Amino acid sequence: MRFLLPSVLALPVLASAFQQPHPQQWLTPSHRHVKGRSPSSSTAATSALSMAVETKKPGTAKLDVAWEELGFEFRPTNSHIKITYKEGSGWGEPELVKEPYVNLHIGATALHYGQSCFEGLKAFTHADDEVYVFRPEENAHRMQSSCERLMMPVMPTETFVNAVNTVVKDNIEYVPPYGSNGALYIRPLLFGSGPRIGLQPADEYTFLILVIPVGDYYKGGLATPVNGLLIQDFDRAAPRGVGAVKVAGNYAADLLPNMLSKKKGFPIGLYLDSKTQNFIEEFSTSNFVGIDNSKNAYVTPKSPSVLPSITNKSLMQIAKDEGMTVEARDVTIAELETFDEVLAVGTAVVVTPVGSITRLDLQEAGDVKRYEFGTKNEIGETTRRLYDRVRAIQNGEAEDVHGWNHRVQ
Ligand SMILES: *Cc1c(COP(=O)(O)O)cnc(C)c1O
Ligand SMILES: *[C@@H]1O[C@H](CO)[C@@H](O)[C@H](O)[C@H]1NC(C)=O
Repeated sequence: MRFLLPSVLALPVLASAFQQPHPQQWLTPSHRHVKGRSPSSSTAATSALSMAVETKKPGTAKLDVAWEELGFEFRPTNSHIKITYKEGSGWGEPELVKEPYVNLHIGATALHYGQSCFEGLKAFTHADDEVYVFRPEENAHRMQSSCERLMMPVMPTETFVNAVNTVVKDNIEYVPPYGSNGALYIRPLLFGSGPRIGLQPADEYTFLILVIPVGDYYKGGLATPVNGLLIQDFDRAAPRGVGAVKVAGNYAADLLPNMLSKKKGFPIGLYLDSKTQNFIEEFSTSNFVGIDNSKNAYVTPKSPSVLPSITNKSLMQIAKDEGMTVEARDVTIAELETFDEVLAVGTAVVVTPVGSITRLDLQEAGDVKRYEFGTKNEIGETTRRLYDRVRAIQNGEAEDVHGWNHRVQ
């Protein structure tokens, strides 16, 4: 009955319902609001929506491919959610919007000066058909630090988490079913939408969240190890720059180094610290983790210009729980020699095993240095174990001892 909806469905959400959230519980104000309307005030569109809401279950949307075949790309869903901030009046009401477009002022600071940040998180269906989002408060907090750095208004954690809940709920049939190994990828964005031509912060901001059903990044969950390249001609971030926040400009700047690595035959590039070129930082969109099995150690670089990954944080906790030594410290290039396994970690893939890292700067001396980890083309045992553990928690198959899963309701 979706075809009955107008092309732009802007559905106001009751503000009052946001004020007293039950601990660990999310409210679903939009749907209560719709259902609670009297028939006379209800339009054909909203009653169509409320009917759809009542019958919605995860994994029931009609897609162009099987759930198991999903990749990681844009696909249309029911809606995205939008909240506007205006100087003076603050955050407005959340709205669910059907069409995947934003109508933007040509002077918007996001377009001219990159006043824009984003987040990425996932929702999973458990065996009982309930849907859970993985650690949304962590993303709320990280977005807040991005906003502080770019002089954008800080959204309260509760507003962020409620918006995630509302948009996932409105798209519940697009959450891949239990057993498909897919997830609903949730992409929040916050950007300056008010016009400024002289460089200064905007007076209006747009927050939105789009959602996309995605599959396992790699078939079967873990990829066979990929070959990495040390990026030595470009820096990702300066020590006192913006590397530690998830701001849009960081990723445009990474396109070229990334593309050049791929052209040379390396699917993944590893950045060094920009000051000394001697310490490992991170891969373009994922954190670096080295495993030393003889010391039972999980090693990850500590640097002011690395993005604090929530996947990294979760795996660090799991490693600790399993009795591994967790070290967050400087990691030199030479130390690559000592790792048995190397992982690239981030929400999209969770874990990518890295089989080797090549440095080309010694090429003229006739020496192309290649650091190899573990047995070629085989996934390391610690990588496998950590990956299985975090995925089992996300799928509701292992006990969620740290309270990472938040039920959508
Ligand atoms: C988003 C991102 C990551 C991964 O963070 P998660 O919270 O685990 O998804 C790592 N590095 C960079 C540069 C990123 O932008
Ligand atoms: C791994 O994550 C933790 C927690 O977010 C962070 O402190 C650490 O610096 C991370 N390592 C890298 C390489 O980002």
